[in-house]
Amino acid sequence: MANKGFAVPVAAVGALPSATVGKVFAVCLRFFAVCLGHTVNSFTSCTHLASPDLSESEDGVSDVEFAHHDLLNQVLDDSSSASDRILRSYKRSLNGFAARLTEQEAHELSSMDGVVSVFPSRTYEPLTTRSWDFLGFPQTPKEELPLEGDVIVGMLDTGIWPDSPSFSDDGFGPPPSRWKGACQNFTCNKYGHGVIGARAYRRGSSDGLSPLDDVGHGSHTASTVAGRPVGNVSFNGLAAGVARGAVPGARLAVYKVCWEGGGCGGADILAAFDDAIADGVDVISFSIGGSLPSPYFRDAAAIGSFHAVRRGVVTSTSAGNSGLPGGGRVCNVAPWMLSVAASSIDRRFTDTIVLGNGDTFVGASINTFPTLTNATLAFPTNGSCDPDDLTGGSYRGKIVLCLPPAQIGHPVDPLSADAAGAVILTRAPDVAFVLPLPGLTVTRDQFDQIMAYVNSTSNPVATIGRTETTGNPQAPVAASFSSPGPNLITPGILKPDLSAPGIDIIAAWTMLSSPTGNPKDNRKAPYNIISGTSMACPHTSGAAAYVKSFHRDWSPAMIMSALITTATPMNSAGNSGWTALKYGAGQLSPATARDPGLVYDASEGDYVAMLCAQGYNATQLALITGSNATSCADVSRSAGSSGSDLNYPTMAARVEQGKNFTVRFPRTVTNVGAASAVYDAKVLLSAEAAKDLAVEVSPSKLEFTAQNQKASFTVTVSGVAPAAEGQVHSAAVVWYNDEHQVRSPVVVYA
Ligand SMILES: *[C@@H]1O[C@H](CO)[C@@H](O)[C@H](O)[C@H]1NC(C)=O
Ligand SMILES: *[C@@H]1O[C@H](CO)[C@@H](O)[C@H](O)[C@H]1NC(C)=O
Ligand SMILES: *[C@@H]1O[C@H](CO)[C@@H](O)[C@H](O)[C@H]1NC(C)=O
Ligand SMILES: *[C@@H]1O[C@H](CO)[C@@H](O)[C@H](O)[C@H]1NC(C)=O
Ligand SMILES: *[C@@H]1O[C@H](CO)[C@@H](O)[C@H](O)[C@H]1NC(C)=O
Ligand SMILES: *[C@@H]1O[C@H](CO)[C@@H](O)[C@H](O)[C@H]1NC(C)=O
Ligand SMILES: *[C@@H]1O[C@H](CO)[C@@H](O)[C@H](O)[C@H]1NC(C)=O
Repeated sequence: MANKGFAVPVAAVGALPSATVGKVFAVCLRFFAVCLGHTVNSFTSCTHLASPDLSESEDGVSDVEFAHHDLLNQVLDDSSSASDRILRSYKRSLNGFAARLTEQEAHELSSMDGVVSVFPSRTYEPLTTRSWDFLGFPQTPKEELPLEGDVIVGMLDTGIWPDSPSFSDDGFGPPPSRWKGACQNFTCNKYGHGVIGARAYRRGSSDGLSPLDDVGHGSHTASTVAGRPVGNVSFNGLAAGVARGAVPGARLAVYKVCWEGGGCGGADILAAFDDAIADGVDVISFSIGGSLPSPYFRDAAAIGSFHAVRRGVVTSTSAGNSGLPGGGRVCNVAPWMLSVAASSIDRRFTDTIVLGNGDTFVGASINTFPTLTNATLAFPTNGSCDPDDLTGGSYRGKIVLCLPPAQIGHPVDPLSADAAGAVILTRAPDVAFVLPLPGLTVTRDQFDQIMAYVNSTSNPVATIGRTETTGNPQAPVAASFSSPGPNLITPGILKPDLSAPGIDIIAAWTMLSSPTGNPKDNRKAPYNIISGTSMACPHTSGAAAYVKSFHRDWSPAMIMSALITTATPMNSAGNSGWTALKYGAGQLSPATARDPGLVYDASEGDYVAMLCAQGYNATQLALITGSNATSCADVSRSAGSSGSDLNYPTMAARVEQGKNFTVRFPRTVTNVGAASAVYDAKVLLSAEAAKDLAVEVSPSKLEFTAQNQKASFTVTVSGVAPAAEGQVHSAAVVWYNDEHQVRSPVVVYA
């Protein structure tokens, strides 16, 4: 059967547990997630699945599960039974199941009453740049920000290494009483206060799985959110200092959905959202994504986070690591979750190579090996450092010059040939990778100069020193790899939302893996330095937990708004292509976010209105929301399908290239500062932008006399659209008084 681009390989399906389906089917079966609305055999709707205490029948199958089986049996022929096919029922926070189905069965199921969507369980990736796929090796985040809160953060990731000092539970009391989570095959007795829950999911099952982190990614992100302060942390002496998370007093709940070599299954992600919401988390941190966004109702994270919003749970996600030329667009773009871009911090890691002729080049790496002196330089055929191309022993003891792999995903591994060192041409010169051998990454220009030397002599040699730490005064600058907008699903919603540190971040690691994951790297590192929007996301998750700890009653949209409108503007540092489409509202500023002054709130109904404008009809919406109270007929919105009308804290519009345009953004702010407050509007517009753009705010003064009072206004943006695709007009609208600056970027793109 032809693979239609689904990421779940057929071979993996064959390896699924309880594979009692005959071989005849095995070839055609794929792994699907099925989402149901409230009409399924009149069982509890998605909205009201408050209690996990569903009645169990005698054979241990709950009513909801029975309904799932019943539904599925209707599309199966007599030789199959639903119990062989259903891998997991979602029944705690949302309603649905994961099952192995043929395309035909999936199609039939999708047209049945009560079925919202049936989609192939796509495989997602943890979004670090840690892997040879992206270029070389790992990196890590750097923690700031104090304050504790009795807040529970759910981490959907690769698990956790609980023995890290970052996860010590010294000084913690018992978990909050509302906590309904579990510690599945995990030592929660010893670590039950800081890490209060841990579950694992793989291909629809949890049987025999451990939530222990054997990759490192999950420990890294978890410690960035809520790691305890740990002194004298470094990577073999580099980046020494105190490591701590945003909210060291917060509780962590771990949902392991990503597996070494296996990615993260959509159906497992949905199962983890289902549990996390019902367990009682306040914030979900999701450093997972694909290289392109999917339509919301085929996207496990969009569906899961929609249900999270309904329970007041905010979801923070990664924007994606596809920003390099040839990569994709921002992922995780639903307006009910945060999409976080990565940016630099004020520290860089540089490394130096001195050629035999004395020429010296400064590149980037995390290289703590002893200095490698006067080793021979060698350029393999085509510059390929794929292990298959380095066989034969001729690179042993040499410094190998590596070009990036022709295709993303091909390995670059000079260590496999016992090379002594490596010089790697990088597509991401702003990132320092941990290498499993002495080496560094260099730019194209530097690489060419080194090649010219190699070509010029019969005995090319070079010396590679250890990495040094330097300042980075231009920071924060958006990371080269961070996936840019525009939002391909809802063009009127700016994504990414904001930016956070995601380059060379140090945080906790696992002792079950080396810092590079390279099979020949036998080092162990309790703290590791890695990069990715995966590292940016938990900074924002931690900040969301911090804000939540002060404002328990704020909606997810209010928390998102607080983080977005208080972000610090960023500059493009000479790269004029980098605009708000690359970094959103700017750099996360957690301390300011605690007291934003005004917020742009939105409810489930507002998101539904936006989906209506995008063309979802009443039937589909009722199924999705589990309520027939919302109907598109009740929704009267002017600006059509772009999403510009949603009460979002940023303003974006796609306009027709080169044409005159006028776009109106109706907005409502809620006063969350002092009862009595007056705000004036100002428009920030560069002289350059003012030639093509006019921005008007009406009214331009807002007066409040009570807390939680609302006020509405309209931003009208008009002008001549950018002449070329990819060009952007940027401005900002700021509501300000002596205490607050509430800033919304305005972006018009062609
Ligand atoms: C616990 O995890 C280990 C390691 O993966 C596994 O071998 C074992 O079967 C699991 N135990 C249970 C009860 O799930
Ligand atoms: C800090 O760590 C270094 C290297 O790991 C060690 O030599 C040193 O004694 C430690 N200092 C303190 C104060 O623990
Ligand atoms: C390395 O080579 C350079 C130039 O050939 C030479 O000057 C230097 O002494 C050598 N260093 C060592 C330690 O052999
Ligand atoms: C060096 O030689 C290689 C072939 O060995 C060639 O592909 C490359 O273009 C040369 N580079 C420079 C800078 O001379
Ligand atoms: C909504 O769309 C679905 C699928 O296109 C269709 O079956 C259904 O009849 C529509 N409902 C309404 C109320 O238009
Ligand atoms: C919603 O469903 C309930 C129960 O089926 C029904 O009584 C009610 O009239 C429906 N409301 C709308 C607006 O269709
Ligand atoms: C577009 O707007 C400019 C002024 O901004 C005006 O001179 C021009 O005539 C307009 N073009 C059209 C086609 O309306």
